[in-house]
Amino acid sequence: MDCNYFGKCGSCSLYQFNYEEQLSYKVEEAKELLSLKDAQIIRSKPSHFRNRAEFRIWHEDNKIFYAMHSLQEKSLLKIDSCQIVSEPIYHLMPKLIEFLKKSEILSHKLFTIEFLSSTTGNIMATLIYHKKIDETWLKEAKKIEDEFDITVIGRSRGVKLILSCDYIDETLTIFNKEFKFRLYESGFIQPNLKVNEKMIEWVLDNLGLIKNDLLELYCGHGNFTIPLSSHFNKVLATEVSKASIKAASWHKELNRCENISFARLSSQEFVQAYNKEREFRRLKDIDLDSFSFSHILVDPPRSGLDEMSLELVKEFDNIIYISCNPTTLKRDLEKLKSTHKIVASAFFDQFAYTNHLESGLILQKKSL
Ligand SMILES: C[S@@+](CC[C@H](N)C(=O)[O-])C[C@H]1O[C@@H](n2cnc3c(N)ncnc32)[C@H](O)[C@@H]1O
Repeated sequence: MDCNYFGKCGSCSLYQFNYEEQLSYKVEEAKELLSLKDAQIIRSKPSHFRNRAEFRIWHEDNKIFYAMHSLQEKSLLKIDSCQIVSEPIYHLMPKLIEFLKKSEILSHKLFTIEFLSSTTGNIMATLIYHKKIDETWLKEAKKIEDEFDITVIGRSRGVKLILSCDYIDETLTIFNKEFKFRLYESGFIQPNLKVNEKMIEWVLDNLGLIKNDLLELYCGHGNFTIPLSSHFNKVLATEVSKASIKAASWHKELNRCENISFARLSSQEFVQAYNKEREFRRLKDIDLDSFSFSHILVDPPRSGLDEMSLELVKEFDNIIYISCNPTTLKRDLEKLKSTHKIVASAFFDQFAYTNHLESGLILQKKSL
């Protein structure tokens, strides 16, 4: 990738390498940190791989421009394109900014634009303002949806204005099977949807032979839950975010996955419920004793697993640990190694040209 802003724009920190070099640099570091010699490596597309991107808006002489945080200074850098965003976002960006420039209502006090695209090319743009937005703005913003056939949302302090809807349709293809999703504006979404598909396929390839029921913590909108569900008798999946659990329940309907139960619980709350220390109304329709879990899947935030969740995870015969932070993964792995052995590992380049690297581990109880 040959980007004019490499070395200046704060978005890509590993700008001095080409795609393969930045990948081996990160992978070698992570292999050493985690002592994983044989980890599989899952590549990203070298450019146009990000399905989620956020740009600040620079105002100058009654004109507006995209901007990113500068790499070296505490300031913004004016940019006119970005090569890491998906092709649909890349092609929309210059046309959209030209369109917005022509409208005082749409451009005045516009602070940030967030883009989200699906693998199938649908786009959502969230326009965030430092001013009140109202019916007049709504009417004007409708013209963006009509012109570009995209979904637009307006946000200002305490206000969210939805024009046609607040999601875009997505289809994930996992081993030639299609799964329907809706990508909502709020809630977690994997940033590199093509690598995400490969990550789900890697998990499916490494589940092992005996598969009873699956417990999943940090399930988000059901990204792993939906494609994995048909490989288990029953699935219980939990997550703290209300918006994500609402989306997950919709994805269950959309894909007719009748063997999944979703519950909105933090991982710590789930441990309390599982250990029968506390009862939750949110679990009133779910009989925890009816599950016979053979696997647990965890995909925690960067902070990794808390002590309570780690103790719970240790009880399971098969652990699938997806991590976006090798440092906290190492910390948790040190503890899991007393009871479990690693049977498969992989690195997924979700965040090319940055120091971040996604890892996947399959662990099995030593006594099995
Ligand atoms: C890395 S994301 C993974 C989501 C999902 N597995 C996916 O692939 O889209 C981590 C998720 O954990 C959720 N989360 C954060 N803290 C949590 C907690 N204490 N308990 C349960 N879920 C939590 C976040 O809302 C987010 O959806």
